[in-house]
Amino acid sequence: MEADLHSLQTAAVAAVSKAQNLSELTAVEVRFLGRKGEFTALAKKIVELPDAERKRIGQVANEVRQRITLALANRIGEIKMASRGNLADTEWIDVTEPGVAPAVGRLHFTTRIILEITQIFERLGFSRVRYPEAEWDWYAFEGLNMPKNHPARDEWETFFIEDPASNGAPEGARPLTDKKFGKMVLTPHTSSGQLREMERVRDLGGPPIRMINIAKCYRRQADVTHVPMFHQFEGLLIDRDVTIADLKGVLDYFAGEFFGPERVTRLRPFHFRFTEPSFEVDISCGVCGGTGFLEAGTVLKGTDLTALREKCRVCKEGWLELGGAGMVHPNVLKNGGLDPEKWSGFAFGWGVERSAMMKSGLKLDDLRIIYKNDLRVTL
Ligand code: FA5
Repeated sequence: MEADLHSLQTAAVAAVSKAQNLSELTAVEVRFLGRKGEFTALAKKIVELPDAERKRIGQVANEVRQRITLALANRIGEIKMASRGNLADTEWIDVTEPGVAPAVGRLHFTTRIILEITQIFERLGFSRVRYPEAEWDWYAFEGLNMPKNHPARDEWETFFIEDPASNGAPEGARPLTDKKFGKMVLTPHTSSGQLREMERVRDLGGPPIRMINIAKCYRRQADVTHVPMFHQFEGLLIDRDVTIADLKGVLDYFAGEFFGPERVTRLRPFHFRFTEPSFEVDISCGVCGGTGFLEAGTVLKGTDLTALREKCRVCKEGWLELGGAGMVHPNVLKNGGLDPEKWSGFAFGWGVERSAMMKSGLKLDDLRIIYKNDLRVTL
């Protein structure tokens, strides 16, 4: 038995040193040390030996196993070294090749659009302001002529902030409900900035006001043209004898600068509680070119074109609503501390992302892409 073990060791070590690569080495390991291997088979016979022999031969078997295992480990090292040594023949590095430039960060698409909008209005003498995005109900609704429980509020699908003071909050926590100002909300629109700006300017001695308030808005909405967090830009101009012609002039100037001279705007009569009269401002769609349909394929003579053409996924009718506008309601002027007999003005509030979608050359057919952290949205 001892002689058998030694000759097995000699055969195994010879096979190990003959192996040229790792897969041959694995085959050698299986052949000798595997579950059905030659060493395993021999070792199983040790139990049949008389007691005196069994212990000694058991030790010899252990030594043989260790030597084979050691030979295998050494040969693995040799094979790996050899393949690394060949690396210089199979691979090479061109140290003169220009490096790969690291990706350079840039401002987010929305930030850049906001800067562009700001610059256009600054050229007209408007000043950029920012007001809280967690705001009292008074500024978002009630002071804008939308009393509590008024159905007009439903349009804004608002997130209300739960009041910790009524919820076992620690002593001294600032209550989120105020008798005068009501509950707190996440601003559903930037119009809350109108009252804030009127109050600020009133305390400084009164109008004129030329404000452009650009901020985040929050609504419980998500589809191709809606995101739950978006931005609006709100213009407010208050002075003496302001007219709708002034409003139209400002909107047209912006549309020409931002969208390009080929895009057209239209005012549709509408109703907002905080402006009178009120309008919705639309711009011709940049995805379908104002036709309401995507490009037609080959069409047979005499077929009804409109039945074959796919409707534009973004606008469906050639126009995309950008936002609202109108002449500031006298009640809002009063709530902002200004005398409606003395002052008049206009306001408008448009979506930043929606405006960006409609900008010349941009074929962005789903608004949600902007906030999916997709680095390709560099636009
Ligand atoms: C308003 O929010 C009014 N405050 C606008 C206004 C201001 C009217 C001043 C009169 C005077 P509206 O709910 O239509 O209106 O929203 C204005 C624009 O915000 C929309 O036309 C759209 O461009 C954008 N908008 C609204 N909801 C979303 C949304 N969930 N995702 C992206 N953009 C949105």
